[in-house]
Amino acid sequence: MVTHRIALIPGDGIGQEVTPAACRVLDTVGRRHGVTFAYDEFDWSCRRFTGLGAMMPADGLDRIRHHDAIFLGAVGDPSVPDHVSLWGLLIPIRRSFRQYVNLRPVKVFEGVESPVRRARPGEVDLVVVRENVEGEYSEIGGRLGRGFPDEMAVQEAVFTRAGVSRVADFAFRLAGERRGRLTSATKSNGIVHTMPFWDEVVAATAAAHPAVTWDSEHIDALCAKVVLDPGRFDVLVASNLFGDILSDLTAAVAGGIGIAPAANINPEREFPSMFEPVHGSAPDIAGRGTANPLGAIWTAAMLLAHLGHAEAAAEVEQAITDVLAKTPLRTPDLGGTATTETFTRAVLDFTAA
Ligand code: NAI
Ligand code: MG
Repeated sequence: MVTHRIALIPGDGIGQEVTPAACRVLDTVGRRHGVTFAYDEFDWSCRRFTGLGAMMPADGLDRIRHHDAIFLGAVGDPSVPDHVSLWGLLIPIRRSFRQYVNLRPVKVFEGVESPVRRARPGEVDLVVVRENVEGEYSEIGGRLGRGFPDEMAVQEAVFTRAGVSRVADFAFRLAGERRGRLTSATKSNGIVHTMPFWDEVVAATAAAHPAVTWDSEHIDALCAKVVLDPGRFDVLVASNLFGDILSDLTAAVAGGIGIAPAANINPEREFPSMFEPVHGSAPDIAGRGTANPLGAIWTAAMLLAHLGHAEAAAEVEQAITDVLAKTPLRTPDLGGTATTETFTRAVLDFTAA
């Protein structure tokens, strides 16, 4: 039996509801594959911020630095500005632990209706690889003349050769293990310094991966193509901002963000990687017990795969596929009446099948 230590941060809202579902799946499937999980739970959240004035304690990062992985539900509350909750917890974890790849797989499952007519089940299977620690989300900048008519705000985007080439390299490798196709999101027509640089570094990285066919698309045209013909994409690599937007778009194409998983990966494994569903804390439905646990459960499968348990991960993914294809059970976001509990139990039943 292998035991993995997991830092568990359920967070706010439905994060509290979907995290236990993911843990049950990890425990049940793990046991069958010789893996157990020891969870250390942390109450870091907007709730904590409201009480103690900080999303996490000052030594928070040190407390989770030596875990095998971090699982996070979601953070966010209407009473706390979103930039406070994001920069107080998620971004410090991503940056301090050099989780420079944000991996977001997207599939249209049989039994889930996509709002996009041409997104047929089985035909859409893609991964967004988002640069996760630099780019447009930078702390460099400031505000001047606050409150005066000439007030201004400046924010600098930061792109480094090391930063772009390592995420591009990860994406090309991933494409090589999949269908061998990569699309790089750019905007080198309008953004004249950073985006031509991004394109150059991606092209240089491509040279080391001759088996992968790749192209580059401007982000606006790419968004249109994702809606018009999502089946043509395999791996999409994008800067922090473009990848953020693309991954919500692709998740919507797949039927909703309640299904979408994500992993913040430190490929060198110097630090723990962090696994979190794409969705937020969904304050509009929190507390009802009807949140879709699928995104969190698929995220748990990504955690299993990252820790070297490919078979267990495949079993979870198959169970998700089976519940959707073989049962009418759906949570309200997918048009059904199932609760988080009944849906999770159905996934667990199928893992044993
Ligand atoms: P959201 O993802 O929380 O919700 C968007 C819509 O999707 C809502 O109508 C919600 O009910 C629905 N939804 C999301 N996940 C669902 C699920 N699992 N099952 C059923 N329905 C689901 O995004 P929103 O409303 O923009 O943000 C709410 C809060 O969450 C904000 O404070 C935001 O900053 C935070 N947030 C946190 C993230 C994180 O922790 N990684 C990511 C995105 C937002
Ligand atoms: Mg987003």
